Amino acid sequence: MSESLDASAPNADATVAQVIDTIAETTSDVRTAIFTERGHSDSVNPTGDEQLAADLRADEIFEQRLLAIDGVASYASEEREDVTTATGRLHVAVDPLDGSSNLEPNSGMGTIFAVYTERPPTSGRNLVAAGFVIYGPVTSMLVARDDRVREYLLEDGEKRLVDNEVTVPEDPTVFGFGGGVDSWTDEFEPVAEEIREELKLRYGGAMVADINQVLTYGGVFAYPALESRPEGKLRLQFEGHPMAYIVESAGGSSSNGDGSLLSAEPDGLHERTPLYLGNDELIDRIESAVER
Ligand code: AHG
Ligand code: MN
Ligand code: MN
Ligand code: MN
Repeated sequence: MSESLDASAPNADATVAQVIDTIAETTSDVRTAIFTERGHSDSVNPTGDEQLAADLRADEIFEQRLLAIDGVASYASEEREDVTTATGRLHVAVDPLDGSSNLEPNSGMGTIFAVYTERPPTSGRNLVAAGFVIYGPVTSMLVARDDRVREYLLEDGEKRLVDNEVTVPEDPTVFGFGGGVDSWTDEFEPVAEEIREELKLRYGGAMVADINQVLTYGGVFAYPALESRPEGKLRLQFEGHPMAYIVESAGGSSSNGDGSLLSAEPDGLHERTPLYLGNDELIDRIESAVER
């Protein structure tokens, strides 16, 4: 089922606005769920992650709220094998709880969302909006649409604009590399060691918080292809496409090792991808090192 859509049509814009506002309004319920549903479930998700009760609860809440929007045609989630369809025209993909392994130590976590005009998307170029929420000391939300990234503070479901144009700072200062030095490929390791000498380590185990460090201080976040796992760990439609859309809308670059992540055409709903995001020159250096 794929329906092309002139994403500039007024009702598409209205639907995008409703998706963003619905996610903003939902965050207080998700915060409550996170801090009450602290157990483990006995299930795993389609990419083999153990599912916490909070993963499942957050997913239920977002599915119910987002499918209640007339213009939303489907809900896809990192936690679900299949897409839930409805009538409507735009397709939402959600990572309901990103960094859920940070729940027990009460470190940063978040939600990532992507709004596509097609299901299945032919690439990240079908995105009309993307964003993430961080359930941190305060709840914040970054939204990328129409080539601009805006940051909001969320209080009682209200969005308060705090930055009308988020851009990746010119001078990079931080890096965060997932996977661990012992599992990096021979191609990635040398450039990773160089960058480690030049920049300050910022790695907290939740992509939303680590990418927000890059958007705040400049630098690079990578979860690279690994010796044992050439496709890397992160999911293309739930983490790669939306985060690439955000970072590129903020003036940065993205790559899967072979060009922009937004050009990556998904084979399957839960496909993984190597992921490099941040300042142009750092992404160029990494890409020339890892390009096969
Ligand atoms: P999720 O909690 O949605 O499964 O995502 C976790 C991801 C991402 O947020 C983070 O960058 C990465 O996993 C951390 O992986 P490691 O625990 O292997 O460092
Ligand atoms: Mn997970
Ligand atoms: Mn995630
Ligand atoms: Mn998740």
